[in-house]
Amino acid sequence: MTARTRRFLLCPPTYFDVTYSINPWMEPAKPTDGALALAQWERLRSLLIGLGHTVELIDPLPGLPDMVFAANGATVVGGRVYSARFRHAQRAAEGPAYAEWFRTHGFPVHDADHVNEGEGDLLAAGDRILAGTGFRTDARAHEEAARVLDRQVIGLHLVDPRFYHLDTALAVLDDDQIMYYPAAFSARSQDVLRRLYPDAVLADEQDAEVFGLNAVSDGRNVLLAPQAVHLARELSARGFVPIGIDLSELLKAGGSAKCCVLEVRES
Ligand code: ARG
Repeated sequence: MTARTRRFLLCPPTYFDVTYSINPWMEPAKPTDGALALAQWERLRSLLIGLGHTVELIDPLPGLPDMVFAANGATVVGGRVYSARFRHAQRAAEGPAYAEWFRTHGFPVHDADHVNEGEGDLLAAGDRILAGTGFRTDARAHEEAARVLDRQVIGLHLVDPRFYHLDTALAVLDDDQIMYYPAAFSARSQDVLRRLYPDAVLADEQDAEVFGLNAVSDGRNVLLAPQAVHLARELSARGFVPIGIDLSELLKAGGSAKCCVLEVRES
């Protein structure tokens, strides 16, 4: 297993909170601890830097408590940026904010016509993009992404509302390997995944429920929830290095490690 150094964009959880509910994990009545959220996020950032990756930051905006989930901000492949267009009004302003960051940093940005939540549902895997639909991203965005990013797109149907984004049910480990929780997908999509990735690492329900699949892999090191013990064992057995990162505060909003990280792929 070889790690490839990555460029990542993160957003500090300055305004993080759970003030509305757009997925089954979010309970606005339950208190959040801002200081703990920040400490957990800081640890994620320092782990990434410690592994040799480049971490850049976007300024968080007041009134956007989910902006910490940078993965949803855009999809960047081959130096091209496909902007996000959020399903829910509460997050709508995040799309233009991330698009602006990329424009300012010299990237060409295509403003999306169709609803899509960035890398939450569009995961680059080698030469293809695995694309989720069912809860957030419109299937028409899959075609748009294929055109804009010039990659083959494989559409996958999510069926369990707990796993409303593709990155909560599947993680790309390197160009050819993935891990996923089969029951989060329709029967047809399970067939597609089995055919494309016969040797995939399969997560069990407990791994998925603790958001173990919401993992960040650099091809060797895999940052994931420490509670995903079965998954960590499976990864070690394949030669990956699992690294536990507890983001329990962010889980109250339905997110974990991968949600906080947007990969800036220049090639
Ligand atoms: N509260 C956010 C939402 O429901 C969480 C987003 C998590 N991000 C992710 N990439 N899965 O939109």
